Amino acid sequence: MNSTTTPSSRAAAPRHFDPAIAEVALKGLRAPRKTLPAHLLYDEAGCRLFEAITRLPEYYVTRTELALLRQLGPELRERIGPGAAVVEYGAGAPAKAALLLAALDRPAAYVPFDIAEGAVTATAEALRQRFPGLALHPLVGDFMDGIALPELPRPLLGFFPGSTIGNLDPEAAVRFLRKVRAALGEEARFLVGVDLPKSPEVLVPAYDDAAGVTAAFNLNLLHRLNREAGAAFDAARFTHRAVWNATDSRIEMHLQSRQPHSVAVAGVPIHFEAGETIHTENSYKRSPDAFLALAAQAGWRGEALWLDPEGLFSLHLLAA
Ligand code: TRP
Repeated sequence: MNSTTTPSSRAAAPRHFDPAIAEVALKGLRAPRKTLPAHLLYDEAGCRLFEAITRLPEYYVTRTELALLRQLGPELRERIGPGAAVVEYGAGAPAKAALLLAALDRPAAYVPFDIAEGAVTATAEALRQRFPGLALHPLVGDFMDGIALPELPRPLLGFFPGSTIGNLDPEAAVRFLRKVRAALGEEARFLVGVDLPKSPEVLVPAYDDAAGVTAAFNLNLLHRLNREAGAAFDAARFTHRAVWNATDSRIEMHLQSRQPHSVAVAGVPIHFEAGETIHTENSYKRSPDAFLALAAQAGWRGEALWLDPEGLFSLHLLAA
C-alpha cells in the first residue's frame, strides 16, 4: 500500500473554531489535575473509533451485552407488555435497540437520544427500515442536561446500554438516574447495562488493546482540540494509559505527556511535566449491590437482574 494514498480522516476533517469547546477544554487543562470532559471524545472520528472498540477481541462488553439481550428477550417481553415506547439514552448504534425492539410485543415508539447527531440519525434510519410501523422521535442532546420527551404511548421503557452509566461518578450517576426517573414518570421501567468488577488482567486490556484502537480513540481528543479549540497539540508527545483504580473500582483513561513541554490552547500556554496526565474518562465497575444502592437513591427499585454465565456483565431492570 502506498502511504501517500492512505486516506486520513484527521487531515480531511475540517477546522472550525468553537469557543464553547475551547472554554471547557481550557477549564479542564488549567485545573491542578488536568482533565477533559469525556463527551468531547465523541466527535465523528471518535464515534467511528468507538464503533471499532466495540468489535475488539479484548473489549468483552459489547458482545456480552448483546448475548444477554438476546437471552432475556422472552422474559422482558412478558414483563413489559404490548405497545411500549422505548427511550434510549446514548443511542450511538442500532444493534442493541434492534434486539430490544424485536423482543418486545409490538413496540409503538422509539426515541434515540444522543450527543452525536450523526449517530442519532443513522440509528433512526436503520430502525425505520427494520420496523416500518414504529414511530421514531430522534433527539440530540447531552443526557446530563435532562430530556424533554415528546408525547409517548405507555408503557415507557428507558434503555441505557453499554455500561455508559459507568462513565458517571456516583454523584453524577444518581443525578442522571433521578432525571430519567422524573422524565419517564410513574410506572416506567429502565433497563440499564452495568459492567461488573473483575480482574485487572481482563479489565486493563479491554481499555488498552493490542491494536491500539482505544489509544487512537483517546488521542483523537487532542486532534479534536487542534481542529475545534485552536490548540496545537502534538499527539506523538502523549501516550494512552488505562489504569485500574481499585479504591474507586474504576478504570481511568489518561493521556500522559512523554516529556516536559507547553502547548497553546486558544492562545493560552498549557504546561506539561514529564509523566503528567490529562484524565479523560472513568469507567466504574459496579456490583449488583453497588448499582442498586445508587438506583435506590434516585427512586428506582430493582425488578430483575441478569448476568452472563461468566459473570462479566449485568443488565438491571429497574422499576419506578
Ligand atoms: N461506556 C464505555 C465503557 O466504559 C466507553 C468506553 C469504552 C471508553 N472504551 C473506552 C471510553 C475508552 C473512553 C476510552 O466501557
